[in-house]
Amino acid sequence: MARLAINGGTPAARDLFKLIPAWPTYSEKEKKALIEVLESRKWCRIYPGSRAELFETAFAEYHHAKHGIAVANGTVALELALKAVGVKQGDKVIVPAVTFIASASAATELGAIPIFADVDPETGNISPASVREIVEREDGVKAVVAVHYGGNPVNFDELKPFLSRRGIKLIEDCAHAHGSEWRGRRVGAIGDMGGFSFQESKSLTAGEGGIVLTDNDEYANKARLIHNIGRVVGRPGYEHYILSSNYRMTEFQAALLLSKLDEFKEQVEKKHRNGEYLAGLLRKIGGVEPQKMEEGVTKRGYYYFVFRYDEEEFGGVPKERFIEALRAEGVPADVGYGMPLYKQKAFSREAFLEVMPPGTEYPGYDQMYLPGAEEFTRREVTMLHYILLAEREALDLVAAAIEKIKENAHELAR
Ligand SMILES: Cc1ncc(COP(=O)(O)O)c(C=O)c1O
Repeated sequence: MARLAINGGTPAARDLFKLIPAWPTYSEKEKKALIEVLESRKWCRIYPGSRAELFETAFAEYHHAKHGIAVANGTVALELALKAVGVKQGDKVIVPAVTFIASASAATELGAIPIFADVDPETGNISPASVREIVEREDGVKAVVAVHYGGNPVNFDELKPFLSRRGIKLIEDCAHAHGSEWRGRRVGAIGDMGGFSFQESKSLTAGEGGIVLTDNDEYANKARLIHNIGRVVGRPGYEHYILSSNYRMTEFQAALLLSKLDEFKEQVEKKHRNGEYLAGLLRKIGGVEPQKMEEGVTKRGYYYFVFRYDEEEFGGVPKERFIEALRAEGVPADVGYGMPLYKQKAFSREAFLEVMPPGTEYPGYDQMYLPGAEEFTRREVTMLHYILLAEREALDLVAAAIEKIKENAHELAR
C-alpha cells in the first residue's frame, strides 16, 4: 500500500505544480498594451475615449449589462453600488455570513449595518429562507449583497421577486463570478447592480481593479458621477455635481484588462468544462462532495473550486489534517475564508462600534451562531480557479491524491 507523502511517501500529485499555469498569466500582448499607455502619457481616464471607457463597454457587453463603471478595486465597487442604489447611514444591509469581509465592510463604510444571513451548507450561497426571515423580522432593510460564492450563482428565482416586491435592492457581489450564468444570462446586472473585483487572484485581473454593472440608467449615471468626485466622465475640469470620492480605474489597469479579455473568455469555457470533469471524479471517490449548483446555473465561472469534506468517510481524520496531507501530496488546497464573518475580530463590539457613527447599536454579532454557515465553513475545502486551466491529466492527479488519502486514512488517524 502507498505511504502518504506527509509520512515520507512519494507525493501522488508531485508534478501537479508543473501542469498548472503560473498565475496571473501574461504574454507579449500585455507588455505591449502597458507600454502603449506609458508612451501615450495618458495614464488617467479623465479624457474622452479612454481605455477605461473601452473596457467598460466590452466587459458590460460580455456580462449582458447595459452599463459598466470601472473602478479601483472590488471593495469600492460594492461601496459605489450601495451608494448608487441609495443606501444611507443607519440602513440595514443583508450579507451572507460566509464571504470575504468586503461584502460587509462596503456597508459599514457608508455607516450602514450588515445583518448576517445564513448560507446554504450545500451551495455556500446566501439562504433565501434566511433572507426572508430577516426581512420579516427587521425594520430598515435597504439592500441585500448576494455573493456568488466561488462563482456559483445565487438562486435569483427565489431572491429577486421577493426583494423587488418590497423595494429592497439586490446587489450582486460578483468578485468570484466572472463568466457565471443564471438561466443563460451572465451575472452582474440581473439584480439592481453588481460589483466585480480584478484583484490579482481573480479570474480576470489587473493586480487591482473592479467594475460596477447595471441595466438601470439612473443608477449608472449616479455611479459615474460618484466615482469621479462628482464630475461628468470624459469632461475634465472643475465642474462637480455631487460631493463624493475618487474611485477611478487607471489606464494601466484598463489596458491590462482589455488585452486579457479574449483569453479570459476562453478560460471561462475551459474552467467550466474542467470543473464538471473534476466534480465527476470527486463524486466517485465519496466523502468529498462538490459544491452543489442550482438547476438555474447554466455556466459556472470560478474563483474557487469548492468541495465538502466528510470526516466520517475519511476514518475520522479532521479536515485540517486532511488538507495538510493533501498539500503534502502536491495539491494546493485550502479552507476558504475559514470562519463565518461574525467571528472575525472586526465584528466584536469594540471594533465594530469604533468605526460606526455615534449612537449605532451593536447587533450582537459576537453571540451569533448560524447553523448553515457553521457547517459550510467546518467542511469547506477550496482550490483556486487556475487549477482548472490545467489539462485533465492534472485533475486526475488531484483525484488520485484524494483517493490515496482516503485509502490510507488510518496512517493519519494514528
Ligand atoms: C467576495 C468578494 N467580495 C469583494 C472582494 C473585494 O475585492 P478587492 O480585493 O478587489 O477589493 C473580494 C476580493 O477578494 C471578494 O472575494
